[in-house]
Amino acid sequence: MAEEQLTADEALLRAVDSHRGRRLGEADQLYRAILQALPDHPEANHNLGVLCCETGRAAMGLSFMAKAIEVAPNQAVFYWSYANRLLGAGRASDALSVMEQAAVHVGLTAEGQEVLTRVHAALANPEPFLGQDDTAATASEGFYATNRSFWSDATIAQEYAVLEGVYPVEASLFEKMGPSIMGKRILEIGVGAGRLTPSLTKLSRQYLGVDYSEAMVRNCAVKFPEYKFQICDARDMSRFADASVDFLIFSFNGIDSLLHEERLSVWRQFRRVVAPDGVMVFSSHNRNYLKTVDRQPRNAEEEANKAKAAQFEHTCEEYAIVNDGTHGFRIAQYYITIEQQIAQLRRCGYKDVKPIDLSGKWLVEDEYAACTSCWVYYVCYPD
Ligand SMILES: C[S@@+](CC[C@H](N)C(=O)[O-])C[C@H]1O[C@@H](n2cnc3c(N)ncnc32)[C@H](O)[C@@H]1O
Repeated sequence: MAEEQLTADEALLRAVDSHRGRRLGEADQLYRAILQALPDHPEANHNLGVLCCETGRAAMGLSFMAKAIEVAPNQAVFYWSYANRLLGAGRASDALSVMEQAAVHVGLTAEGQEVLTRVHAALANPEPFLGQDDTAATASEGFYATNRSFWSDATIAQEYAVLEGVYPVEASLFEKMGPSIMGKRILEIGVGAGRLTPSLTKLSRQYLGVDYSEAMVRNCAVKFPEYKFQICDARDMSRFADASVDFLIFSFNGIDSLLHEERLSVWRQFRRVVAPDGVMVFSSHNRNYLKTVDRQPRNAEEEANKAKAAQFEHTCEEYAIVNDGTHGFRIAQYYITIEQQIAQLRRCGYKDVKPIDLSGKWLVEDEYAACTSCWVYYVCYPD
């Protein structure tokens, strides 16, 4: 683990000592070293989550805290501190879901009751979306907050509300997979304005659409009053039980609004929620496509948006965060090649992954490197 071969218990003791002594860089490194060797270590996940939240990296911190509960659902204290941190991030309704989960798994102790009272108070007096943690944001938190507020913008929700019908890739997907999904439990994440709702509900009425944008969910509820929609952030799937979904779909690159660590946490959480014989489908921007475009701002507003989002751009071997100019340069998004995406999914528990390009062609391995389709859909089967 460390150079001097500490056991996990020794490393945890040292990490906690550094954490208490506010030697935060050291504590961060030690928790991460434990997680590198033991990714499911409950205390290391929880404590690193707390540390990230304390240092303005709430998005990342919350995903570690969610993981701690996932791997140790009987640890009451994990629920209380996670719910508290969600409150700090302005996510009172998510905090309530965590407390509901706590009531089932560990019961509500006196400490739990206190947290629940704070949750009810926050729900009764909602604060603006950005909570304390987000105002002390680092660039990574800023990326999440920027993208979420973009998708929550009523004008953008309206732009999506006029989209109808499926793309050729989705037609090909439903044609091939339709019979196996018929009548099954479908969960659509990032439902947007419900473009896919008519096609999915034709396959099964056991359908739930969720999105973290209230504006999108409101539009769906008005347009399709006969179906169920909820506000839910893919970063926190704790309200869904293990193996409770047969077909999970996150279409049209919604996942690309999250940073790398959050994306990996989402894959793992989807893996837990999808039944062993179920399937997870999503689309993501193809890094190879970037070779074929070089968009320039067309006016001063786009120029200013581009400059603002530049702080989030980042490239490394596995992926790139790029502002490609869509939506007037307002947001940067995650891009990844097919090969890297498949390798990433395999590391997160999906053994068999089949990519489809935008024209609807199911790709074979020899075709991955040459594919410049702007986005790619991935059909993923759990291990
Ligand atoms: C490009 S739109 C696609 C909408 C719809 N799926 C469609 O195909 O027309 C992406 C959607 O993903 C949602 N989204 C992005 N990140 C999300 C997250 N972390 N949790 C839930 N929804 C998310 C956005 O709010 C937005 O509605």
